[in-house]
Amino acid sequence: MNVDKNKAEQTPDESHRVTTSGDIEVSTYLEIAEAGGEQPVAQKEAAPAIEREAIIVIDFGSQYSMLIARRVRECQVYCEIVSHDTPWEQIAPLNPKGFILSGGPASIYEPSAPLAPSYIYENHLPILGICYGMQVLAKQFGGQVTPGTKREYGHSILHLSNADSPLFADLSPSSTVWMSHADKIEEMPPGFTTLAYTENSPIAVMGNDNGIFGIQFHPEVAHTPEGMTILKNFVYRVCGCRGNWTMGNFIDESISKIKKQVGKGKIINALSGGVDSSVVAVLLHQAIGNQLTCIFVNHGLLRREEAERTLNTFQLNLGMNIVYVDASERFLKRLEGVIDPETKRKIIGEEFIRVFEEEANKIGKVDFLAQGTLYPDVIESASSESKASAKIKSHHNVGGLPAKMKLKLLEPLRNLFKDEVRQVGAALGLPEDMVWRQPFPGPGLAIRIIGEVTKEKIEILRGADWVVMNEIKNANLYRQLWQTFAVLTDVKSVGVMGDYRTYGYLVAVRAVTSDDAMTADWARLPYDVLARISNRIVNEVSGVNRVVYDITSKPPSTIEWE
Ligand code: XMP
Repeated sequence: MNVDKNKAEQTPDESHRVTTSGDIEVSTYLEIAEAGGEQPVAQKEAAPAIEREAIIVIDFGSQYSMLIARRVRECQVYCEIVSHDTPWEQIAPLNPKGFILSGGPASIYEPSAPLAPSYIYENHLPILGICYGMQVLAKQFGGQVTPGTKREYGHSILHLSNADSPLFADLSPSSTVWMSHADKIEEMPPGFTTLAYTENSPIAVMGNDNGIFGIQFHPEVAHTPEGMTILKNFVYRVCGCRGNWTMGNFIDESISKIKKQVGKGKIINALSGGVDSSVVAVLLHQAIGNQLTCIFVNHGLLRREEAERTLNTFQLNLGMNIVYVDASERFLKRLEGVIDPETKRKIIGEEFIRVFEEEANKIGKVDFLAQGTLYPDVIESASSESKASAKIKSHHNVGGLPAKMKLKLLEPLRNLFKDEVRQVGAALGLPEDMVWRQPFPGPGLAIRIIGEVTKEKIEILRGADWVVMNEIKNANLYRQLWQTFAVLTDVKSVGVMGDYRTYGYLVAVRAVTSDDAMTADWARLPYDVLARISNRIVNEVSGVNRVVYDITSKPPSTIEWE
């Protein structure tokens, strides 16, 4: 196979589409194996910042709250999301410079409608209310909101009536905005004036002289092209933020915090080669060097060359302390005769824990277990609104392991979004292909082999998967796709090669786009890419004589076949 890996992996793509953990695998093993175990209490880390400053999003249940926080952070200002009933004591240490009230599904005139906590008004800090958040402001300041007779949804043109407002600096006099509301403000509270309007909303933006603004549309979504200008104006011109949230600052502050917290203690980390566990490992290594030991368990279900590449990067290039365990035979033995997907997962999870514990015990006294928990997991754990998200999130909850092994949990990435983790990884010098790796499930190829997992089938799947990866990377599609892989079905069909009749395996190719793995669409791959993949698989992978492309979305399918 003649693929120039460097060339294949140079895929300049600026999309920031990834929001969930790319290497949920390790924690999944732990979670599955220890389901029901005692949950460790995670230490709440304060927001990392050199000179602390933060914007706080008060969340009223909007689907966009996370996006608001990401946008504010893109302005280099640290931002956290808290629910509307969060006590002030939890927020004060972050040194808030302003608040954003999110949208939400409620109607403000309903008796049970959630309101903003009184401290946001008592602190006299700037406030930006977005959509429902604007209605909250109107109500709490004594204005009038009425149920809209018709819902305004989609694009509108915003016209500025007071272009001198600091919120509108550098904004066009008329610009496109994204609306999604039914209720509207009938009467503004005392002291507020209209700053902008649309055809259907005479009060599309209102404000007073104390830096309190309400906007009816969503500045955080891509459909509001000048929305970032508004958010930037709010955080810099209205709140007076200085913008010190950079990944460089994050790294500096994390390193000194880790040093202080860990002292002379010892840390173990389950390294998987995925983005999150890799970034955690490198960050910790920079902070405390050889007090960190990474345990890399090879369960024999990795992609071709995956174990070697991970070892090369961490052991040879970065000189880290790695315990490498090739446990392939153990896992394979335990998987013998197993067909049911959930049983496969459970077995792999249990075995992983066993191997991990055995190795950890050999190291001697250990004080901390490091984990690649990310901010979306933290937020999702705090709200139990979505069952689907709860499921994804549960992959990250390490079961009882730290408690059982008397370890303290260290989660240096728990305040970061996925794209920030990638930036940290790049800033720490991790290779590009590692920083941009697509997610890979913990049970690995076992859940991409339908039916029993055998050595022969793993080799066939590795061959097919290698071709898919090569071709997708050569076509510069790797970063645009959430996941791309091959599945070895348990179907055999008849074919013909030369003068011979063949009876071989059917391989399915899966490529999906997604933002967060909760929903996904099958990728419209170019026919010529599909043709090359199919052609190469049947020619290069013996035992396979037919290739199909999976054209189902999630839902109703899942991304993985098992
Ligand atoms: P599904 O197949 O549920 O996958 O649409 C959603 C995302 O989760 C990954 N996945 C797993 N990850 N252990 C993991 O660590 C698992 O058992 C597992 N099952 C699915 C999948 O690759 C996709 O990114």
